[in-house]
Formats: sequence, C-alpha cells, structure tokens
Amino acid sequence: MDFRLQKAAVSALADTAADALIVIVAGDKLDPALDARIASIVTEAVDAGDFAFKAGRTLYLHRPAGVKAARLVVAAAGGESAKAFRKALAAALGVLKDLGARHVALAATWSLGDAHAEAAVTAASEARYIYRHTKPSAPKEGALAKLTVLCADADAKAVRKGLERGEAVAAGVTLARELANRPGNHCTPSYLAEQARALGKKHGLKIEVLDRKDVEKIGMGSFLAVAQGSHEPLKFIVAQYRGAAKDVAPVVLVGKGITFDSGGISIKPSAEMDEMKFDMGGAASVIGTLRAIGELKPRLNLVCLIPACENLPSGTATKPGDVVTSLSGQTIEILNTDAEGRLILCDALTYAERFKPAMVVDVATLTGACVVALGHHHSGLFTADDAMATQFQQAAQEALDPCWRMPLDEEYDEALKSNFADMGNVGPRGGGAITAAMFLRRYTGKYRWAHLDIAGTAWKGGAAKGATGRPVGLLTHFVLAQAA
Ligand code: BES
Ligand code: MN
Ligand code: ZN
Repeated sequence: MDFRLQKAAVSALADTAADALIVIVAGDKLDPALDARIASIVTEAVDAGDFAFKAGRTLYLHRPAGVKAARLVVAAAGGESAKAFRKALAAALGVLKDLGARHVALAATWSLGDAHAEAAVTAASEARYIYRHTKPSAPKEGALAKLTVLCADADAKAVRKGLERGEAVAAGVTLARELANRPGNHCTPSYLAEQARALGKKHGLKIEVLDRKDVEKIGMGSFLAVAQGSHEPLKFIVAQYRGAAKDVAPVVLVGKGITFDSGGISIKPSAEMDEMKFDMGGAASVIGTLRAIGELKPRLNLVCLIPACENLPSGTATKPGDVVTSLSGQTIEILNTDAEGRLILCDALTYAERFKPAMVVDVATLTGACVVALGHHHSGLFTADDAMATQFQQAAQEALDPCWRMPLDEEYDEALKSNFADMGNVGPRGGGAITAAMFLRRYTGKYRWAHLDIAGTAWKGGAAKGATGRPVGLLTHFVLAQAA
C-alpha cells in the first residue's frame, strides 16, 4: 500500500482529487474554517438526523454535489488525540471496506501531528490485512491501494515523519500477524528460522541459528527439556541489527517461540487448544519489531533471541517432577510441563548475558492468569526498573499499544520454593502471571530487565480469530527511544 502526504487547506477539501475523501471531525460543532461545501453537507445531515458529533458515527455520500471526490465519508472522533483519530478512521475505513475506492484522501478538521499520521498508516494497514496463506479462497484484499494524508503546511514535517514510522511499524505488525496466524504444521521452529534468515538478508542483519547439538553443548538443559517431547527440531535464533558502534551495549529482545503448546504431559483440555499455535506470538512480535527497526535504521544495536520448539507429550517428553539444570546452573523441578514458556525463556535470558546488554526485554504469551488479570486490552508489564517502566508507558501511548505495570515484589518469590531443586516452575493459582515473572527474574540479575506478558493481547479468539501483531508498535517505540 502506498502512503502519501499532500498539503491542503481545510477550507478547500472539496477540491481534493481522490476516489474517496474521509473527513474526521471532532468536538460538538464544525470548525468554521471547514470547506463550506462539506460543511453544508454535514449540517444538513445533522438536521436530518443522519449524522451526529458523537464518536463512532459516520456519514457516507456517493457523488456528493460540489465535491470533487466520488465518495465522501465524514467520521466523528471523540477528541483530537491520535487514539480518537485512529478509532474514527477505522470506522470510516469500515464504511469504504467493500466499495471500489482505490485512492483515499484523509483529512481532519484540526492540526495533525506525527502520532496521527502514524495511526493513519497502521489503521489502514490493519484494516486491509487478510490471511490467505492456507486459505486461497479468502476474499481478495479490498480496493484501497493508496492513502493520501492531507495536512496544513505547518504540519507537513511531523506528518511525514509519522507516515514513515507508521509504514515501518505496519510492516512489522503485518509480518508478526502473518507468522502467528500460520498453523503449527506450517510455522515450525525451522520455518521461523528461515523467516529470520530471509529478513536478515533483506536488512543486512547477522543471523545465527543454533540447533539441538549446539544447545546441548552450551548447556541449555531447561530449553531442551521442553523440546524433547517432539520430533520437530528445535531452533535457537540469534538475530543482530547493528546501527551504532560495535562497543555500544545492545538492547536485547527475547521472544517466546513455542510453535505449538499442547501442555506436554500436563496436557491442556481440548477446547480452544488450536489457539496454542499462537504461542509463538512473542517470537513473531520480536521478528516484526526487528523488521520495523531494520527499515527505520536508528542509531542503536539490537539483538533478538528466539528459543523455538514445540511442547508435546510423548515417550520422550519431560515428566512432572523431572529436575533439569538450566544454562545458569540453577536447577528446576518441572512440576507442570504446561508452564513451558518460562523454561525456554530462562535459558535465553542467561544466554543474553554474553551480549553485555544495556537492557533486556522478554515478550511471551506466558500465562492464562495474565488474561484473567488484564483481559485483552493491556499487555502485562513486569519490571523492577522504574525508568524502563516509564519508557514503556510512554511508548505505549505513542504507539496506541497499551501495557499495564504489574507487581514484582520479593514476597511472590516464596511460591517457587522446591524440596528437590533450586526452584519449581509453578506457584499457586493466584497471581500466576506474577509468579511466572518472578521465575524469570531469577535469571535476570546481571542487567536491566522488563517482561511483557502478551497472553491476552497477541491474538483474538472467537469469530475474529487471528493474530493482532501486538506488541510490535509498543516494542518498536520502546526500542527507538533507546537510540542515541
Ligand atoms: N501458553 C500458555 C499461556 C496461555 C494460556 C496463553 C491460555 C493464552 C491463553 C502457557 O504456556 C501456559 O500453559 N501457562 C500455564 C501456566 C500454569 C501451568 C502455571 C497457564 O497459564 O495455565
Ligand atoms: Mn503451556
Ligand atoms: Zn505456552
């Protein structure tokens, strides 16, 4: 999809050449500067009861008199924020969804900033995405091929910047959705490694892929314990982006890459088990973020680590009660083989030490408990580092990809005590997202660290079942903030 910027006065929007013109309005009356032809259409519609200045309301006209564009959509936003703008735009694009407009021009009745422009790109890209990889009969993508953002002269610089960032984030989100949507028999650990290699080629990244023998030699006993139930070969993917001098400490992202989570011997109930193909959502979002960073080329170094394997029951699978030695040397009593995410992440977190990182962020569809706590809107953020927490809140606002800080107090660590190893891999039911984070914390003493539990945000269930591509936006903004 093509994104453009065009300078235009609000007073002359009706002269815009496009297949469709979207005008976003905010507040409870029209901006007096708005093009008189469009203003009279809106006023008439309000008088007739066909439109109201209420968030979510839209007005559609075909070949409106005095308007050059063949279609006009007016959408009401609940304010001038990027978030309100994005919502109104999504509603307007919904109106155009099955229509023939290829070139859509977009304007608001107020001054646009970079966040609005970025939101326009990500919303349009999100609306256009259709999963086809294993469904050739899926409908073709809609007609929309070009979006032109109309803005005042004074806003052009910021809008251009926002468009550029939005395109990179949207490409990352689309890649993450595409990877996560692919079923477990297509998106295997080997497939993820291939995808990382392809991305590396495109953006000049250094890609290494470790396999079982390498991982055995290094001593990742915990990761191996999860992988050993499956015939599908495990992969440990290391991808490096170099945008700063060699001696600049990198940001390290670690993504959980369980390409299918059956629970193992502690097997899950059958209902909705298919959704456990999304259990590599952390890995997908890390790869998506790498793509966005590869396009934006900020001055920083980034390392992405992805432990990838399946979690299956079999005669060679780990049994409840088995004790393994992690790469850190700490031993783990695997009380529940379904708490496998932390078992592959802990070895990756120890491996991260060798990069002498400025900070490490892990991303994982880690616990059902996080879904219970936060639902599907906020990702769970766990960190003892207040500065990182602040940067994440900032990034979340910029990207419109929210997260919520959860506790990480020492008291929760108690639950991990074991009589047979340095720790067990599960605690009691209550506070399950926190004990999972506390488990990871035991491996992160040597650097600044944050953990994102995206179990509730990486995909949607039900009729709209599919990957969301979150938290690529959040991660990209967070990483960009680390640039010199
Ligand atoms: N991948 C799941 C977490 C999950 C479950 C995400 C449902 C989204 C929806 C993870 O590996 C898991 O199974 N966690 C267990 C941990 C428990 C055994 C302590 C869980 O949440 O039930
Ligand atoms: Mn599990
Ligand atoms: Zn899992």
